[in-house]
Amino acid sequence: MTTIAALREDLQEAGFTVASLRALWGTAADEALARGHRLPARRALTDRTEALATLARVFLLNDVVPVADLDRALPRATSDGAAAVGLVEIDESTTPWTVRARLDLSPYSLADANGEVDWWVVSDLGEQAVAGPLREDHVLGVGGASLTLARLQLPDRVDSLLDLGTGSGIQALHASRYADRVVATDISARALELATLTAALNEAAVETRLGSLFDPVLPSERFDRVVSNPPFVVTPRTEGVPSYEYRDAGLVGDALVRQVITGLPDVLRPGGIAQMLGNWEYRAGADGLDRVRSWIDAAGLEAWVIERERLDPSAYAETWIRDGGTKPGTPDFERLHAAWLDDFAERGVEAVGFGYLLLRLPAVPGRVTLARYETVTTPIDASASLGAHLATCLAIHDWQASLDDTSLSEAHLTVAPDVTEQRHFWPGDEHPAAIDLRQGGGFGRTVPLGTALAGFIGACDGELSVGRIVSALSELLDADEAALRAELLPAIRSLLDDAMLLPGEPAPAG
Ligand SMILES: C[S@@+](CC[C@H](N)C(=O)[O-])C[C@H]1O[C@@H](n2cnc3c(N)ncnc32)[C@H](O)[C@@H]1O
Repeated sequence: MTTIAALREDLQEAGFTVASLRALWGTAADEALARGHRLPARRALTDRTEALATLARVFLLNDVVPVADLDRALPRATSDGAAAVGLVEIDESTTPWTVRARLDLSPYSLADANGEVDWWVVSDLGEQAVAGPLREDHVLGVGGASLTLARLQLPDRVDSLLDLGTGSGIQALHASRYADRVVATDISARALELATLTAALNEAAVETRLGSLFDPVLPSERFDRVVSNPPFVVTPRTEGVPSYEYRDAGLVGDALVRQVITGLPDVLRPGGIAQMLGNWEYRAGADGLDRVRSWIDAAGLEAWVIERERLDPSAYAETWIRDGGTKPGTPDFERLHAAWLDDFAERGVEAVGFGYLLLRLPAVPGRVTLARYETVTTPIDASASLGAHLATCLAIHDWQASLDDTSLSEAHLTVAPDVTEQRHFWPGDEHPAAIDLRQGGGFGRTVPLGTALAGFIGACDGELSVGRIVSALSELLDADEAALRAELLPAIRSLLDDAMLLPGEPAPAG
């Protein structure tokens, strides 16, 4: 048995999973740990000697424990095996010999349409464990952005996928559930080592390749899918400002995001899709989303770009200086903050947007039907898998975009099961003052409805065609039918794009 296989069996036998740990130390300690506060978890483990408690101490609380304890927790791999693959280091100068984590080994669980899995992700020890600023070649663990992109991944099966900037390998691991061939690249050899370890521990087939951006892709190679949580953080190129490999590719401003976008047409198959996260600058009164759009248009890509957050330069700088482990109020923090503000001022940056990009190489060159650029700031259930929703929206978009208005008028539609209507009345009034259509899943959108659109949606049970409903409504509202159709069809297309309306079968005759 290989050391990795032995480790896997030991971790499985100990039940080193998200759910078991929560059961071991309780929800409050679990939540405290997620906020970076370890004491409650540590207290809950007092006098606990089982394998799960030892693994949690070593890998999640970064305690130093006797070698014999870890040997008991990893009976097949032993401490020596864990040390051989770089997970721990043994201190032979102590009596008894002791062992401490050299890498972070975190359980990770996932439940989606493809079922439930318990995985382990290997990364560098976090800021707390190293107690101070991170190394510039730090390999990031599963952070908020990693989780966001992982949950955005479209779940439909594809032949090939490229994970650009794989880091710990978390995106490649997710992709291995639906892609037959996963290629993971990184500029950091160290990241690839850890991604290889992550993949091996979880028996995921991932090919790793070293190199910058698209360099590791062969000239004739094309992928069905690209996923990337790239090093997009805007960082001043000032002497003394650390350039962390895990978040910064060494370029000026938001140039990295532009470079990734413009390189995509050379690695995607026609119809292939890239999903990535990014930052974009708002410079001198210009809209940041327009800036992204200009790069995407130049690359000839279809796009659905969703801005989720916009920060002013000072808040942006603060976020990323803290992320590097430098505390506010220290002289270093002040120096770095000034460097960030000077850098933004040089380019006239007034804000920085963050969001999700879904980009597609048109199946037919030049045929672009998807060009959505929007700001959506509604809170999203952090555990929700948005990928399935995006896949549904895309499929419906392609269907509706293939229909001209006459064909769409012949279609039958239904209201999505997660959609409800909310009516607001002035006290005592018989007629609503406002009507909203609310989406329970997806992006939790709220769409204000006029009388005609509300009437249209109320009749969408799949029985009557779009055209028949519009015709009936024009009589009911005493409105010109052609004008009503022209008013309603764009709104109907937009509700279809958000999967709030669904293509429905015509009701069976009789
Ligand atoms: C934000 S991390 C993402 C890690 C992981 N994919 C995730 O989602 O958690 C960005 C990764 O890009 C890598 N990287 C930095 N510069 C790069 C470059 N020029 N080309 C390829 N990868 C790069 C970093 O080493 C790091 O692993």
